[in-house]
Amino acid sequence: MPRYARASREDLPSPKLSIESLRHAAELLRYVSPYKTKFAFALLALLCSSLLGLIFPYITGKLVDGAIAGRGEGVFGDIDSIALVLVLSLALQALLSFLQSVWFAEVGEKSLADLRKDAYRVIIALPMSFFASRRVGELTSRIASDLGQIQDVLTTTLAQLLRQTAILVGGVVLIFFTSPQLSVVMLASFPILIVVAVLFGRKIRKFSREAQDKLADANTIVEETLQGIANVKAFANEGFEIRRYRQSIDLFLRTVLRGAAYRGAFLSFIIFGLFGAIVLVLWVGAKIVQAGGLTIGELTSFILYATFVGAAMGGFAELYSQVQKALGATERVREILRETPEPIELNPKPTSRIRGDVKFENVVFSYPSRKEIKALKGVSFEAKAGERVAFVGKSGAGKSTIVSLLLQFYKPDAGRILIDGKDANEYPLSELRSQMALVPQDVTLFGGTIYDNIAYGNPNATEAEVIEAAKKAHAQEFIESFPDGYQTIVGERGVKLSGGQRQRVAIARAILKNPAILILDEATSSLDSESEKLVQEALETLMRGRTSFIIAHRLSTVRTADKIIVVQSGEVVETGTHEELIERENGVYRMLSELQFDLS
Ligand SMILES: Nc1ncnc2c1ncn2[C@@H]1O[C@H](COP(=O)(O)OP(=O)(O)O)[C@@H](O)[C@H]1O
Ligand SMILES: [Mg+2]
Repeated sequence: MPRYARASREDLPSPKLSIESLRHAAELLRYVSPYKTKFAFALLALLCSSLLGLIFPYITGKLVDGAIAGRGEGVFGDIDSIALVLVLSLALQALLSFLQSVWFAEVGEKSLADLRKDAYRVIIALPMSFFASRRVGELTSRIASDLGQIQDVLTTTLAQLLRQTAILVGGVVLIFFTSPQLSVVMLASFPILIVVAVLFGRKIRKFSREAQDKLADANTIVEETLQGIANVKAFANEGFEIRRYRQSIDLFLRTVLRGAAYRGAFLSFIIFGLFGAIVLVLWVGAKIVQAGGLTIGELTSFILYATFVGAAMGGFAELYSQVQKALGATERVREILRETPEPIELNPKPTSRIRGDVKFENVVFSYPSRKEIKALKGVSFEAKAGERVAFVGKSGAGKSTIVSLLLQFYKPDAGRILIDGKDANEYPLSELRSQMALVPQDVTLFGGTIYDNIAYGNPNATEAEVIEAAKKAHAQEFIESFPDGYQTIVGERGVKLSGGQRQRVAIARAILKNPAILILDEATSSLDSESEKLVQEALETLMRGRTSFIIAHRLSTVRTADKIIVVQSGEVVETGTHEELIERENGVYRMLSELQFDLS
């Protein structure tokens, strides 16, 4: 498990069992309700098998007494028939346990699958502001481990909890029924021992977790230094690293050894304490038998019941901590399910095409995570359909923020964004986004084939259209150079494409989408000049006939724009064509262009 994931899990508080947290958890139980009939049957099977389990010690006692008396008597008849009843009850119990376990698993897994689907559906539809304030690792962990925790409880823990309760209650009643005197002895010693055992267990777990962390720290040193071995050697820091590793391992060793001491103590405690208690009960029991208060068989039943009760008591601690963890997980999952998704259309219908006039009127905006700073302080500009508009300005000026607002990732705090003369808010969100395409600086491809990655721009496209788009994007050449062609797997587990190649896949994707509005956010900034030329040509094709917004560092790529908008600290400071702006004495654009080599 990656370290950050574990750290973030350990930091999470697990809530105490309270009415409040149980009520919240109960809300998630509505995921079980479609399967409630099966759930009820599972509960019934569980109850029956637990109760049958309680008969077992009773019959065993009868069997022993039957053996001692030479021939059995009473309701169960002779030894053979007692044994037969025993075997039959075992068989019935086995069957019921099977059904209960399968049914619980089915109900738990199915409701969890529903919950997973719901959680993903909500998360992916949440607005960008949600993602801006959270780490992706945290979200992935919610989907993976929090839901896993809830799953464990639903499929197994809940059943165990009910079973143990039935056994505990039934068991205590039956031992009192068998011998009240002996029950008092047992109930006076067992709970204390169990509390001690639980505390021991907790301590041991704490040590083993600590040891794991320490070992992970040590392993990080190995990993980092071997990955950066050139650095280590160039700085002649081998000695330093050896000492660092040695210290780290020694720390781990100390923790492990302390844990081992506790483990050893625990073992002797179990042997002396727990078995001692059983001996105590046996001893007192034997005395009662001697005095004629109990038969040997009854003592046998008693001892068996006592072990059942003891095991159930001991199991509760573990179950409690699991329920507690699941409650924490429930709380976090609930938080996500309560977030409001964007009003997006999950099955968008084809809509009438917009022309592509864009107008910003005094747009003011602060990021939700940094309310105190205005990223845009009243930005106004206009782009006619089909125009090429370039945004120029220093890094951090607000260029990407402008296009994020255009893409409706965020809403302006003040001012308006007009598309074809109509307020952007009046369009259905999916309709607007379906007519825009973004080619960012760093293109991530999804795991899958190149073909799928291009078709992502328009899942309804035909094969011919996909290939046509690839050709226009200058991607055809490199795609065909792979042995698998369009079926080449890319992404994390596949072929690594170069920056320029990924960029051309993204352009092909955008061509296929055929948007009215195109946004290029530093699309060529990280390319070498060879790929930049190809990508630039592809972009020319892509921009034709659409309103295009180009953000670029290299001013050479913006020279041909119909309009250049210079942004500085969240404000538009200059607007005009290259020729107009370069003429301005003390102009910001002129100054920026003088800093660049490729512009004269
Ligand atoms: N997701 C975000 N959350 C908070 N602040 C942000 C976020 N993205 C950008 N900013 C801030 O907004 C300002 C403008 O950033 P940006 O639009 O990315 O600049 P540019 O694209 O011109 O380099 C910067 O001060 C930046 O730190
Ligand atoms: Mg930017």
